[in-house]
Amino acid sequence: MFRRKNKNVKNLVLQPVSVTGYNNNLLQQQFDNKVEDSLERYIHSTVHPSWIHDLDNMKLETVRPIGQGNGGSVTLVRYNQIYMAKKTVFVGSNVKVQKQILREMDVLHHCKSPFIVGFYGAFLDTNGICLCMEYMDCGSLDRILYMGGPLPCDVLGTIVVAMVKGLQYLYNVLHIIHRDLKPANVVVNSAGLIKLCDFGVSGELINSMAETFVGTSTYMSPERICGENYTIKSDIWSLGITIYELATQKLPYAGTDAEEEPAGILDLLQLIVHEDPPRLPDTYPESLRLFVEACLQKDPAIRATPQQLCTMPYFQTALTTNVDIRSWALQYKI
Ligand SMILES: Nc1ncnc2c1ncn2[C@@H]1O[C@H](COP(=O)(O)OP(=O)(O)OP(=O)(O)O)[C@@H](O)[C@H]1O
Ligand SMILES: [Mg+2]
Repeated sequence: MFRRKNKNVKNLVLQPVSVTGYNNNLLQQQFDNKVEDSLERYIHSTVHPSWIHDLDNMKLETVRPIGQGNGGSVTLVRYNQIYMAKKTVFVGSNVKVQKQILREMDVLHHCKSPFIVGFYGAFLDTNGICLCMEYMDCGSLDRILYMGGPLPCDVLGTIVVAMVKGLQYLYNVLHIIHRDLKPANVVVNSAGLIKLCDFGVSGELINSMAETFVGTSTYMSPERICGENYTIKSDIWSLGITIYELATQKLPYAGTDAEEEPAGILDLLQLIVHEDPPRLPDTYPESLRLFVEACLQKDPAIRATPQQLCTMPYFQTALTTNVDIRSWALQYKI
């Protein structure tokens, strides 16, 4: 849909395609169409992922690669008629640690929220630990932001509600902190659902990933940078930075023009800790500016709790506004 059409400017004559090649292409196309049809049906069915105990690579058919992050890669796979996003994370070769991670993943058994990506299971393979989760066919918000620019106000409101409700589910039901909230870890599907993924379910996994950490720091709270304890409030800071980015398509601390980015990671950390926190410009609605301001308080004691965020006018209005998220999401279907 986003592919640019090439003009035949030199009037080149196209060579006829060989009959075998044509048939192969046709067969491939028919196969791809079948996959897309069944994928579509699957995404729109009401099935909530439930834990499958005996998952392993032998039972999974690879459909296509999805993406690559700092900590691992994600692939679309199929198990019988079920489509899943398989994330492989390198966790080192210590078997005790690997087993501990798997045990901790069991919490996900009980994870049933429309705001949290569903899980099918986890297993070890030679490349690390494989997490099989619900496939979200419109991808993550960083991709959507890149393709579509700043999010429309009403869509942003619905997404903020989903993110806050997702965080509350993690805190109140699963008793875990997210630890890596950012647009790349909020995923969307063509049924119009917005869900959080890649939260810190396993302490061991967090430790082993920290050893090889090369990730983004832009979303890190000042107290986390200063080495203090990570709490729910640190997630709320990351939420504020995420909303700022979704509303403006810019990262705070980057300056007004793209050339003005902080020179390096140490400069960025200095800015987060020592400068005034980012604020949305006056051109944005006041209720949104106040919401972001409540998240981006440098002192965690003053920063809003999730419950306080839920009582704010921005959240309350978004909660009661009817937004056609499905049509919006469909534009970004992969
Ligand atoms: N459940 C999912 N459904 C569909 N796409 C997904 C899913 N999970 C991840 N992705 C896609 O795969 C990409 C890579 O994900 P991954 O979590 O490995 O990296 P990341 O979140 O971009 O960065 P980091 O490694 O710093 O966390 C994401 O940007 C997203 O577009
Ligand atoms: Mg991720």
